[in-house]
Amino acid sequence: MEDLIDMHERLSHLFALEEYTMEYLDKSWVWLNDPEIKKLTLTPDFTRQQQLDFYENVKARTDYWIRGVSCDAVPVGVAGLKNISYENCEAEYWGFIGEKKYHGKGGGTAMLRMVFDEARRMGITRIYLYVWKENRVAIALYSRSGFHCDGEYGEKLKYSMVLASSSTRESSH
Ligand SMILES: CC(C)(COP(=O)(O)OP(=O)(O)OC[C@H]1O[C@@H](n2cnc3c(N)ncnc32)[C@H](O)[C@@H]1OP(=O)(O)O)[C@@H](O)C(=O)NCCC(=O)NCCS
Repeated sequence: MEDLIDMHERLSHLFALEEYTMEYLDKSWVWLNDPEIKKLTLTPDFTRQQQLDFYENVKARTDYWIRGVSCDAVPVGVAGLKNISYENCEAEYWGFIGEKKYHGKGGGTAMLRMVFDEARRMGITRIYLYVWKENRVAIALYSRSGFHCDGEYGEKLKYSMVLASSSTRESSH
């Protein structure tokens, strides 16, 4: 019964990708300076000026794609692709829900799906990511989503997967 209530709670929220605005930048400052989120995402120290410089430059970059993540229209996180290589048809996924009271509501699962859809539109066929080896929830999410572990790099694990086309995904259900 509790499982059913949990599932209903998770399905009742609408997660969406949004333009990465100054509001998301300001919230990212708070989220990524939270000690727990900072550790889970392995975010290095950074200054406000570095963050502003990043914001100024990111829209012109072809190797980087970034979106805010909202839940029921409330900004809750950020996700995207980096190191996009159109030549090799691959990119690195990254993403986090910074608003802690929104953890476990289906956002991690939803943002993976939405970023994968965009990656397919870009012609990306292989996605990889790095995750802190102690990040139990994220590792479980990535494993269940089709990623397999490629190896250990210091305190990080590298995961990757071949991105199935939408039609393959649909026909396999
Ligand atoms: C990791 C993260 C992206 C997962 O997103 P989320 O919205 O919290 O997770 P979801 O609600 O989509 O749930 C995904 C799975 O994790 C499980 N889960 C979520 N929170 C959990 C918790 N605290 N403990 C155990 N399992 C948990 C869910 O049950 C679900 O499993 P299921 O698909 O088998 O039902 C998010 O919690 C987050 O960003 N955390 C902080 C920073 C971080 O770790 N980012 C990732 C860096 S690589």
